[in-house]
Amino acid sequence: MAKITYIAVDGSARTLEVEDGDSLMEAAVSNGVPAIDGDCGGNCACATCHVHVDAAWLAAAGTRSEMEEAMLDFAEGVTPDSRLACQIIASPALDGMIVRTPVSQH
Ligand code: FES
Repeated sequence: MAKITYIAVDGSARTLEVEDGDSLMEAAVSNGVPAIDGDCGGNCACATCHVHVDAAWLAAAGTRSEMEEAMLDFAEGVTPDSRLACQIIASPALDGMIVRTPVSQH
């Protein structure tokens, strides 16, 4: 289990307890977190789950796969802290992580 905080562009925050093994996209969609659509169901094929990972959590989030890199090419406003939330899998190591949803998904 990991507590993940999703911060929207307007500064509002939602903190969810995400089960180990679930992706940050799945948790967001199931709990109605705005601006994370997850249109492809987590198959790394849509980029509608683009988030910016807080700098303090970038290392814990791991690195992008080649497929994720390719998909992020289709997202707007990609920065070095950009990840696809469907590719970040909750574990105790991520407890406390903060992610921000991008302007382009609002
Ligand atoms: Fe489609 Fe993440 S849900 S790329």
